[in-house]
Amino acid sequence: AKNVGILAMDIYFPPTCVQQEALEAHDGASKGKYTIGLGQDCMAFCTEVEDVISMSLTVVTSLLDKYGIDPKQIGRLEVGSETVIDKSKSIKTFLMQIFEKHGNTDIEGVDSSNACYGGTAALFNCVNWVESNSWDGRYGLVVCTDSAVYAEGPARPTGGAAAIAMLVGPDAPIAFESKLRASHMSHAYDFYKPNLASEYPVVDGKLSQTCYLMALDSCYKQLSHKYEKLNGKPFSLSDAEYFVFHSPYNKLVQKSFARLLFDDFIKDPSSVDEAAQQKLEPFANLSGDESYQSRDLEKASQQVAKPLFDAKVQPTTLIPKEVGNMYTASIYAAFASLIHNRYSVLAGKRVILFSYGSGLTATMFSLQLRDAQHPFSLSNIAEVMDVAGKLKSRHEFLPEKFVETLKLNEHRYGAKEYVTSKDTSLLSPGTFYLTEVDSMYRRFYAKK
Ligand code: ACO
Repeated sequence: AKNVGILAMDIYFPPTCVQQEALEAHDGASKGKYTIGLGQDCMAFCTEVEDVISMSLTVVTSLLDKYGIDPKQIGRLEVGSETVIDKSKSIKTFLMQIFEKHGNTDIEGVDSSNACYGGTAALFNCVNWVESNSWDGRYGLVVCTDSAVYAEGPARPTGGAAAIAMLVGPDAPIAFESKLRASHMSHAYDFYKPNLASEYPVVDGKLSQTCYLMALDSCYKQLSHKYEKLNGKPFSLSDAEYFVFHSPYNKLVQKSFARLLFDDFIKDPSSVDEAAQQKLEPFANLSGDESYQSRDLEKASQQVAKPLFDAKVQPTTLIPKEVGNMYTASIYAAFASLIHNRYSVLAGKRVILFSYGSGLTATMFSLQLRDAQHPFSLSNIAEVMDVAGKLKSRHEFLPEKFVETLKLNEHRYGAKEYVTSKDTSLLSPGTFYLTEVDSMYRRFYAKK
């Protein structure tokens, strides 16, 4: 199989959201802390009728329907998620309801989980399968689904929720450059979920930022090294049109891109312009550790990188800024933003993605975008996802109502024997929702 990659995509996020500006005021944070400091505009969340299973049922059904894919044509289904509803039964098995109805139970794959990285693991599994001897000619399907919620405190505004589905096969408009992949994996306690009775993580915010940036540096170095072996010259920012990052909040994405520019400068000062060389020169001799701690370097490199950031990263930031951190779906929501904003000029371009999951696991990889036949053209993918329409038809909750919703969900997490309000007034037609959890913890869903 040639040009294996993503043939089609769809995205779902809850229609319920809270404005970061309102949340800032409600939380008593200084004005601008969430909107400018974190760089976030709005945050989506699940009410009591939605969860990671309902969102994934919605997005898979929508993708199959809108691209006209026969459910029998799916041979592998992989889910990435870090939202644990059951410690044994995978989310994938809930999705089998869609396929069983059509007589298709011959579908490989289960869930992958490690913080925000599970979706990338799932995607690689599907791409590797299509590229392998065990491929049976059918499509792979990847689902990233998460509800990111934090306990009250500084991390709460970095939540979000969404599910993304991606169809995988040959001759794709979004093809993997499989030789250009570099990983960094190590042991860290930056963000983890040891309390199985709570949906909230334990998080060391500052450490998680440093871990993210160290993993980014390591992956970039490895990728550059592999690129040089293949092409006889080192990789630099000018070798890709766009850079897509896992996006816990926009400020970290700004810092990340600036870090890559600094990495280019350290590798070869002449790879950045003279003005940039002058501004970065004072930091050239910092040790690795010093460079992660230096606020002055952070500010100088962000300033120098700003024009390139606007060209190569800004078009990827829309959904993560509007919806928040979607954990496994975040990086693919950033990529979906790029397709939404630039579908007509992407063919022939290389896009570099950086996936990060706390704990920690990270991979940087490369995609080549291409023209493809309907329904798998980039313009049709943009049309199906209808990002602008979905963002516009949302319902804003006041912060008080958002906090109340999270309290109810806290109480319901891991509980049995309850029926939900079944209030679907805010959901659009075709959305799945939770109706009941019975005395055996069995979950029931219906479709609006
Ligand atoms: N106006 C403008 N900017 C402001 C204001 C203001 N009024 N107040 C603060 N800021 C800026 C700060 O200067 C800082 O920006 P900088 O880093 O560029 O200097 C930014 O806002 C954040 O302020 P902090 O005080 O550093 O934030 P705090 O410690 O309260 O929380 C954090 C931020 C650590 C990101 C927290 O939200 C968190 O723990 N989130 C979850 C962890 C996370 O997302 N980690 C990322 C990788 S792992 C993952 O994906 C889960």
